[in-house]
Amino acid sequence: MSVLVGFLILTAKVFGYIIHALLRWVKKPVEKRVANEICLITGAASPTGIGRFFALEFARRGATLVLWDIDTEGNENAAREVRKLGAKAYIYTCDVGRKEEVYSVAEYVRKDVGNVTILVNNAGIVAGKPILQCPDELLERTMRTNCHAHFWTVKAFLPQMIERDHGHIVTVAGSFGLFATGCLEGYCASKFAVVGFHEALSHELKAKRVSGVKTTLVCPYFTDTGMFHGCRIRQELEALLSPLRPDQFVKSAMHRILQNQHVIYVPRMLYLVLLICIYKSVSIHSPSDTLSLSVS
Ligand SMILES: *[C@@H]1O[C@H](CO)[C@@H](O)[C@H](O)[C@H]1NC(C)=O
Repeated sequence: MSVLVGFLILTAKVFGYIIHALLRWVKKPVEKRVANEICLITGAASPTGIGRFFALEFARRGATLVLWDIDTEGNENAAREVRKLGAKAYIYTCDVGRKEEVYSVAEYVRKDVGNVTILVNNAGIVAGKPILQCPDELLERTMRTNCHAHFWTVKAFLPQMIERDHGHIVTVAGSFGLFATGCLEGYCASKFAVVGFHEALSHELKAKRVSGVKTTLVCPYFTDTGMFHGCRIRQELEALLSPLRPDQFVKSAMHRILQNQHVIYVPRMLYLVLLICIYKSVSIHSPSDTLSLSVS
């Protein structure tokens, strides 16, 4: 009997969510304000990277930026751009894959700046070598930076968010967290892992009734950040799914993050890709050494 009741409640909820989604589609929710929120972005240094563009979007909206990267010089440049927009920026050199470093730098941030209220877990690396050619250390580093870093940063900053029932955790995964391709074993494994992490964390916050701490998973399709230098999309797909410009992607994602959207795929076409589950929709050729796929 209780199974039947459970089933009916679930069905009613599903309909409720569909109606809720339709209403959101008709009456777009407004962007929440982030002025004076403390926003930490990991991997902010790369001039063409998603992290830098996120920093600028948050700066335009008046947030205080805390930028983390292992590249100190690049990070300083990012901070300069943020300050040009009139926002405050604090920079820290931190290897997010090392938990002791994350915990100690997080302590400094709390002392120097205050409690982080928006955490954008963006830092990522790609090895781009087939599993058998990829040095062990590089595979481990990929997992540490792209996946484990989420554990440490969330453990460092979530407790204060929960205490004040206020915060937002943004997980940047990418389409390789949804479907995989050859020669990116380490990268795909790490990205699939953080998609799972985001889902589990969202469930946990919901179960604990922490409604003030939001979570968002951001999945861009290929972006032109230079990270996948050497990747090519199959020609017949190029028209449908051309690489995204990182600044355009971030603008679009930002808008939806600030509407507290739970999952964001860009372009929206990705929802369809997932639905029909095109495997090997992306094929990679290798004109350069960075992505040496031509092992035949
Ligand atoms: C940070 O959050 C903690 C826990 O809620 C609180 O005790 C502390 O006063 C906050 N610090 C600042 C600077 O707001």
